[in-house]
Amino acid sequence: MGFKKKDILDMESLSVDEIKYILNMTDKMKEISGRSIKKVPTLRGKTVVLFFYEPSTRTRTSFDIAAKRLSADSISLSGSSSSIVKGETLVDTAKNIEAMNADVIVLRHSCAGAASMLAQRLKVSVINAGDGMHAHPTQALLDIMTVVEKKGRIDGLKIAIIGDIAHSRVARSDCVGFTKMGANVVVAGPPTMIPRGIEVIGASVAKNIDEAIKDADVIMALRLQTERQGSFLFSTLREYSKAFGITKKRFESAKEDVFIMHPGPVNRGLEIAPEVADSLHSVILDQVENGVAVRMALLLLTAGGVWNVDSD
Ligand code: CP
Repeated sequence: MGFKKKDILDMESLSVDEIKYILNMTDKMKEISGRSIKKVPTLRGKTVVLFFYEPSTRTRTSFDIAAKRLSADSISLSGSSSSIVKGETLVDTAKNIEAMNADVIVLRHSCAGAASMLAQRLKVSVINAGDGMHAHPTQALLDIMTVVEKKGRIDGLKIAIIGDIAHSRVARSDCVGFTKMGANVVVAGPPTMIPRGIEVIGASVAKNIDEAIKDADVIMALRLQTERQGSFLFSTLREYSKAFGITKKRFESAKEDVFIMHPGPVNRGLEIAPEVADSLHSVILDQVENGVAVRMALLLLTAGGVWNVDSD
């Protein structure tokens, strides 16, 4: 199959075949990053605009690196440095970028649905780099890639996602993506941070964190999304860490071959103990490495580049 999608907005709108197609392309892109000269001419003459209304280290940098490795021109725009601060709307700003003949807009925004709204209004491709509490599809794709790479498969694995599920776009996209690929996803966290109806997107809710961790092949810890929590949802950070953190003791109760994941940024000693984050079982930096390859694949597929092994 070819890849025909104009936009990458969420995991719900990607079929299993499309996910496999992206992963296959990601493998090819990863090989480029291992070369001494990490650059191919595939997207020469294409323009990628990185429009980030929220802070980001991994997503923004990896999209920038991905564009440059494919020889696209990438331009970064932040909410505070754009004419948004003078009252221009998101749509008007994006239409102006489109008028400059950009090929792809990568958008991170605090409002759920922002990327979908732009995708409907623009001819240019839109990639959602995280919209509010809704979706983070490129993170889900790199997480799927990492699990497949480390475990050799994803079908039938138990994946435990622990922490602030309710406010996490990563949790939502991962639940949808992992279950689409055949994994058994179990979530655990404080009752105030487990969204009602999470089962609809394929996850089951464990009675407690120890039940979620038991027999898990992969444990993913999530950061407390305090910027999206309206009020304190737990008494103290210390209490939260004790009750819901991936402590050394909990890690030692997990399967011998468990892998530890975290989408970042990591708050050491809060949702995950430093010894766990730095253990040989941790694949947190592998996730980051795969993020570049996944984003190269997505830029290539949406910007209409043709992958030619011989010429590249
Ligand atoms: N995982 C993730 O989205 O990290 P950033 O916020 O640093 O991009």
